[in-house]
Amino acid sequence: MSYIIGIDLGTSSLKGIVVTKTGKVLASYAVEYSLSIPQPGYSEQNPQIWLDALDQVLIHLIKDRPEIADKIAGISFSGQMHTLVLLGEQNQPLRPAILWNDVRTTKQCKTIMDTAGEKVTAQTKNRALEGFTLPKLLWVKENEPEIWEQAAQFLLPKDYLGFYLTGNKQMEYSDAAGTLLLEVEARQWSTDLADIFEIPAKIFPRLVSSSDKIGTVKKELAQKYGFKTEVPVFSGGADNACAAIGAGIIKAGVGLVSIGTSGVFLSYEADALQDYQGNLHYFNHAVKDSFYSMGVTLAAGYSLNWFKKTFAPDQSYETLLAGMQNLPIGSEGLLFTPYLMGERTPYIDSRIRGSFIGITARHTLKHFAKAVVEGITFSLKDSQNLMEKYADRTFDKIVSVGGGAKNQDWLQMQADIFRAQIVTLKSEQGPALGAAMIAAVGVGWFKSMTECAKVFVEYDRSFLPNEKNSADYQKIYALYHEVYPATKNLSHQLGGI
Ligand code: XUL
Repeated sequence: MSYIIGIDLGTSSLKGIVVTKTGKVLASYAVEYSLSIPQPGYSEQNPQIWLDALDQVLIHLIKDRPEIADKIAGISFSGQMHTLVLLGEQNQPLRPAILWNDVRTTKQCKTIMDTAGEKVTAQTKNRALEGFTLPKLLWVKENEPEIWEQAAQFLLPKDYLGFYLTGNKQMEYSDAAGTLLLEVEARQWSTDLADIFEIPAKIFPRLVSSSDKIGTVKKELAQKYGFKTEVPVFSGGADNACAAIGAGIIKAGVGLVSIGTSGVFLSYEADALQDYQGNLHYFNHAVKDSFYSMGVTLAAGYSLNWFKKTFAPDQSYETLLAGMQNLPIGSEGLLFTPYLMGERTPYIDSRIRGSFIGITARHTLKHFAKAVVEGITFSLKDSQNLMEKYADRTFDKIVSVGGGAKNQDWLQMQADIFRAQIVTLKSEQGPALGAAMIAAVGVGWFKSMTECAKVFVEYDRSFLPNEKNSADYQKIYALYHEVYPATKNLSHQLGGI
């Protein structure tokens, strides 16, 4: 018997799972950490906390299951996207990592689009957004010239873990796509953009594919973890690509809705030909020669979390949402827009704000909670709509994962609003399972990701749209759509106060 380990380096924790050849999770362990917000809009982490967390997780997993110490066939990773790790000549981080949810780079995004907007969208298939890596590089160059001068290489978080374990530096395509410096279709660094924005060629790492072996775990680390044999390391993928793999999104017609802190609506793309004109994210998949498109709601689960914490701190989510299905569709005329952190899709607007519209004296806490859940789901529907509008994309099935998959009434609501069959996963492990699947293909357990998914991905519950509710939701959704244009100016002005 042999095993693989999948690691997910998230924003708030690092999780490791040990998986068997039949896709069963034998053990799992996570270590939490925090992020620092040195100024409003900034979001940073010291890369050392990821290395410490990785050490702790691997030591714990082997201690817990000593019988696997000589049976680890391979390790791979999933990681938070876009986050800039800037290394010096000695491979030392030159400053704290600037995270994907850091929004200090509005000015740099504008410069990028004003200087080379058409080229950026044509080559990278994306628009400059605050979260992406190129604006972060330009911010460091402009604001910390003494650090910029020392920059010898830039990496992304999971690639930094790969370097730590093996001593080899590289970046993998699904993550490189989120830097805004990769020619997504040609799978090569854009020398044009590097020239335009004066990013020195030497700081670009070599590019590799997800299941490429990047080395083996260094001897001293293997000893520290208790590994008894040489363990190969595979490069891994971006967390959204890994979440998609773990949910079986490796062919057209199956979509993914993931509601965590942020929310994602994601679709497999067989080629790079689709032109969403930068209205959706478009990245290389961690499955060879394929791609995915994706819309992001910045405050999805975060909106519900904020609402609960602020207005119902003593209630559990279950209690707060209990009986939601008994309230009328549309929460009796109450609409919520989840723009608490500004928005990415469909409105690239960091200054828009959230709102409740239509409050009357009839509305109770339960109405508000349902309106929040409906607003989050409408926002994700906007991404589905863009896929329909630009690419005629339809979904036979949408896999729902994350917090949104924990409540059965919310799952039914998703079926009604997305007008598609919603399914859940039997064992939800998040992106760590995708990372394990990448290793499983890398070590040769399976010839392809499709073969691996047949064994590793199992669906559980299924929800079909209720025709009447679905039709009612369409009417409310049309009204929801009027909120953004009606509140945009007001929000921008309020933000200036
Ligand atoms: C995707 C994005 C987030 C991070 C979270 O574009 O910014 O989903 O990947 O880790």
